[in-house]
Amino acid sequence: MTAKEESGLSGVSLPARANDAEHRTLFGTTSIGTRRTTPDPTSKCSVASATHASILPSGVRAYYEHNGIAIIHGDCREILPSLKADVVVTDPPYPNNAGHFDSAVGLAREVISGWDRSALVFWTELEWPPVSVHRVAVHIWHRSNVNGRPYEPIYCFDPDGVKRRSNVISHAAVFDGVGPGCSEYLGHPTQKPVALMRLLCAGTHGTIIDPFMGSGTTLRAAKDLGRRAIGIEIEEKYCEIAARRLAQEVLPFGEKL
Ligand SMILES: C[S@@+](CC[C@H](N)C(=O)[O-])C[C@H]1O[C@@H](n2cnc3c(N)ncnc32)[C@H](O)[C@@H]1O
Repeated sequence: MTAKEESGLSGVSLPARANDAEHRTLFGTTSIGTRRTTPDPTSKCSVASATHASILPSGVRAYYEHNGIAIIHGDCREILPSLKADVVVTDPPYPNNAGHFDSAVGLAREVISGWDRSALVFWTELEWPPVSVHRVAVHIWHRSNVNGRPYEPIYCFDPDGVKRRSNVISHAAVFDGVGPGCSEYLGHPTQKPVALMRLLCAGTHGTIIDPFMGSGTTLRAAKDLGRRAIGIEIEEKYCEIAARRLAQEVLPFGEKL
């Protein structure tokens, strides 16, 4: 039975499943173990198996999975070695992001330094993110209507080394970090606008992975674009927010394509 049949959403068209041979294993050289578990009938998580059309490898536990979008609750350092994807799109804990998630900046450096393929990474303007493949563009998100820093860089990496045109991304109706008072705010302190994430994801190809998922903005953007995506988040409360957000089949009020 396919995920679509399981969901009962027969009218929803699934994006074509990418050939597994086209996927690549992330962080294949890391020594950190994979998180494989046996089914727990009391858990609200599901476990991917070979008999179900899962985006996850067999045995990897999903907090949420539907139509090619999966959330995994846990530490991305443990989980990433077992996953396959084509492009990383992520907003990790980084220095200078207003003190949020400061204790995780070191591990974020460690994780992104292991990437060996295409990536879009939010990071401070004060240093290059330590990704080892070629940096090919630096996009700027112009954050309108803010009291603080009115821009944020998003670094674009690609192993092909071909330089891209950088973009200044401006949204007059998108507010600072989707904070309180903004219609799409869901309670995450560094939530990004879904319109911004849709623009970024639309310029990428293949299965997306966000190892620092937060409230699931990258995954919501991927879903809106009909893309396959995996998110990992260490705090369960944010997994729950993301799962609720992904369960909505129509865009919530205030979230525009
Ligand atoms: C900057 S926030 C991402 C916010 C997201 N872009 C959004 O729109 O909601 C980074 C997230 O990484 C998570 N995180 C920190 N360490 C982690 C780890 N080891 N594995 C997975 N997630 C982690 C934090 O809990 C936080 O939610």
